[in-house]
Amino acid sequence: MAITYDSGHRLFRLDAGDFTHAFCVHASGALISLYSGSRLGEGEGLWEYPVRAISFSPFDPAFPGFSLDDLPQELSTHGAGDFGASSVVVRNGGGDTVTVPVYRSHRILSGKSLPEGLPGTFGSEGEAESLEVVLEDPLTKVEFTVCYTIFPRYSALVRSLRVRNGGEEPVILEKAASLTLDLWPGTGEREVISFSGSHCRERNFARESLGQGVRLYGSDRGMSSHQCNPFLMVCSAGATEISGEVWGAMLVYSGSWRGELEVDQLSRLRLNLGISPQEFRWRLAPGEHFQTPEAILAYSGGGFDAMSQTFHDLLREHLMASPWTKRPRPILINNWECMQFDFNQEKLLKLARTAAANGIEMMVLDDGWFGKRDNDHCSLGDWRENTRKLSGTLAQLSQKIHALGLKFGLWFEPEMISPDSDLCRQHPDWVLGVPGRARTESRWQCVLDFSRPEVVENIYLQMEKILSLAQIEYVKWDANRHLTEAFSQALPSERRGETLHRYVLGLYQLQRRLTERFPEILFEGCSGGGGRFDAGILHYFPQIWCSDNTDVYDRLKIQYGTSFAYPPSAMGAHVASCWDKTRYTDFDTRGNVALAGTFGYELDLDECLPEERGQVKGQCQRYHQFHHLVEEGVYHRLTSPWESPLVAWMNVARDASEFLLTVVQTDRRYNARVPWLRLRGLNPQALYQDDQGHSMGGDLLMKRGIPIFLERDSQSLLFHFREVKEEGDQG
Ligand code: DGJ
Repeated sequence: MAITYDSGHRLFRLDAGDFTHAFCVHASGALISLYSGSRLGEGEGLWEYPVRAISFSPFDPAFPGFSLDDLPQELSTHGAGDFGASSVVVRNGGGDTVTVPVYRSHRILSGKSLPEGLPGTFGSEGEAESLEVVLEDPLTKVEFTVCYTIFPRYSALVRSLRVRNGGEEPVILEKAASLTLDLWPGTGEREVISFSGSHCRERNFARESLGQGVRLYGSDRGMSSHQCNPFLMVCSAGATEISGEVWGAMLVYSGSWRGELEVDQLSRLRLNLGISPQEFRWRLAPGEHFQTPEAILAYSGGGFDAMSQTFHDLLREHLMASPWTKRPRPILINNWECMQFDFNQEKLLKLARTAAANGIEMMVLDDGWFGKRDNDHCSLGDWRENTRKLSGTLAQLSQKIHALGLKFGLWFEPEMISPDSDLCRQHPDWVLGVPGRARTESRWQCVLDFSRPEVVENIYLQMEKILSLAQIEYVKWDANRHLTEAFSQALPSERRGETLHRYVLGLYQLQRRLTERFPEILFEGCSGGGGRFDAGILHYFPQIWCSDNTDVYDRLKIQYGTSFAYPPSAMGAHVASCWDKTRYTDFDTRGNVALAGTFGYELDLDECLPEERGQVKGQCQRYHQFHHLVEEGVYHRLTSPWESPLVAWMNVARDASEFLLTVVQTDRRYNARVPWLRLRGLNPQALYQDDQGHSMGGDLLMKRGIPIFLERDSQSLLFHFREVKEEGDQG
C-alpha cells in the first residue's frame, strides 16, 4: 500500500515515486505535518517532532507549550493559535472567524474520480489511491475533508478540500485553499520561482530568494491570467535542472487564484494555493458543502528536470481527458495574423490552396466569420455565419476547403458578448455587471454571466448547431478580456460573492458538454494567446495557444517557462511572419521553435519571401519525422534563454533509442570559444548515429557533450540521433 495509517502513532504516510509526505494527528486533534520530501525508508521516529514554547505563541492550556503558531500543519486556521496565513476562513453565524478543526475520521480508497463539477485528475483502482481525512469544528460543526490522491509511479500528490456545514446556522466560506504545504525549516536557504508576465510575455521565469514575510502570487482577473500562471516552485537555494530539492505546486483551475508563501519567525515555510479570496464569499446553508479545485504537488530531490517530467507525464496520463491528448495533431494554418477581419471566400480559398500544396493539413478560420463582424466592436454572442462575407454558408466553405484536401477549423469566443449584438439586445441581464453601475469594456466587449445555467445553455445550443451543420474538425476557444463588475444579477445579494467561481463552473460545464458531444473535434484553448494556460483547461482541451507573440526570441522564453509545468504536446506553437518588425529571424529557426510544440502556421504563404515559402514543405516533413519525440518523448531543457546565448532542449524517446536536440543562437559572439552542450537522458551504453552518419556513444554525449558551431543570430540547428542496434538485436 502506498498510503498507510499507523494507528499507534496516528501517523499518515503517503509514498509515491521518490516522494514521501507524512503527517500525524496530535492529541488536540490538529494535523501536524511531519515531512514532505525525498522518499523515506522505514521512517522510524517519523512521528517525533520538536515542541518548544516561544514567547507570544498562544497555546491551548490543555497542552502547554504546544502552539499551532510554531508547527507545520496540513490545514491551518486563524484565530486560535496560528498567526500564519490560513488555509480556510469560515465566517460563523455569530460573525467570528475562529475555527478549530479537530480530527474525526479518515478513509483510504482505491482509485480517483473527478471532483464534483470540476476538472481534475482521474485514475482507476489499480492506478491511484486516495485518502480522505475528516476534521470538524466542535462548536460550529463545520466539517473539513482534506482529500489526497497519489499515483504510485509519480513523485507527487493531488490535494483538495471539501467544506460542509454540519451546523444549524448558515456560514460564509471566505477562503478555502486547495493545498497547504508546510515545510519544517530546511537545512539551508530556499527560493521561489513564479511564472509571471503580461499579454505577449507569458510565463517568464522569475526567481526570488525567500526571507521572513508573506509573498502573494495570483490573479484577480477572473481568469488564471497572462500575468501570473497558477504554478509555483519552491526550491533549495541554487537548485538547477539536475540538482537541489524542488516542490512544484499547480492549481487545476482557470479562474482567479492565489498563491501565498509565508516564511515565519521560525522559518516554517507555508504555501497555500487555491481560489483567490478577493471576491470569494460562498454561503453554506446547513447541510451544504463546497468542493475546492484540485492542486498537484510534485517533488524532486534532483532538480527541475525531474519535477517537470513528473508534471508532464502525470498530466498526460491522469488529467488530460481528450482522446487527442496522445494523437499527432494536423498541421494547421490560421488566417488571423495575415487577414485579421479583412477576408472573403476568395482570399480564404487562395490561402488554403497554397497551404495544401505545401503540406499543410488544416485551415482554421479565425475571428470575423459570424454576425456582422468586420471589426472587434460587434457580434460576439451571435454565433451565426455571415453568409455575405463568406459568399455562402460555413458548410459550403468547409466543403470547398475539404475538396482541397484540408480539414477545417473554426474560432469561437463563447464567454463574451458585444454590447452591439442581438443577444445583448434580447438579454441585457445576461451580462456580468452591477445594476445601476456603468460597465467597463475591454476590446469593446463584455462578459456573459456564465454563472447562469440558461446562458450556458444558450451558447451550447448555438455552438452545437454550427458544429453539427458544417464539417468542422477543430475549434479554437478564445477569451479576450478579463472580468470586471463580476457580479450576477440572478444571484441574491448574499450569494453575489459566488459569481466568479460559479462563472468558472459554467465555463467547465460548457467545455465538458461540447467535448463530450463532439469527441472527435480537436479543441485548442486560447485567451489572447496564453492568458488561460492552466491544467483546468487542459483537462478538456489537449492544447492551448501559448502566446500571441510569435517572435522567436520571445517565444523561446515563453515556451521555456511553459515547459516547467506543462507538456510540449500541449503547447500551441506556430511559424509566423516576423511578429516583431524590428528584427528578422531565420525562417528555418521559426520552424524549429514551432516544432517544439503542436506546430502550424500563421502567415500569408503567398506574401512571404519565395525562399521562405520554399521551406514550408520541408518543415512539414520534419514535423512528421520528429513529432513522435515531442509528443510522447521525455523533454529536457539544456540551457535557459535568460542566461545563455545558446538556447537548447532535447526530446528523447522513452526508451532512449532516438532523440532530437534543438539549439538556437540568440546572441552570436565573435571569436568566442566553441560552446559544448552536454546532453541528458541517453543510454550511456548505447551508440548513437546522426542522420549524416556520425556516431558517438551515449556516455560521451552526456559527459563531454557536442560542440555547437553557429555563426549568426537566430540561426539554429537540429540534431537527430538514433541508437545503432547490433545486428539481430530486436530491442
Ligand atoms: C486573440 C487570439 O490569441 C488570436 O490568435 C486571435 O484569435 C484573436 N484573438 C482574434 O480576435
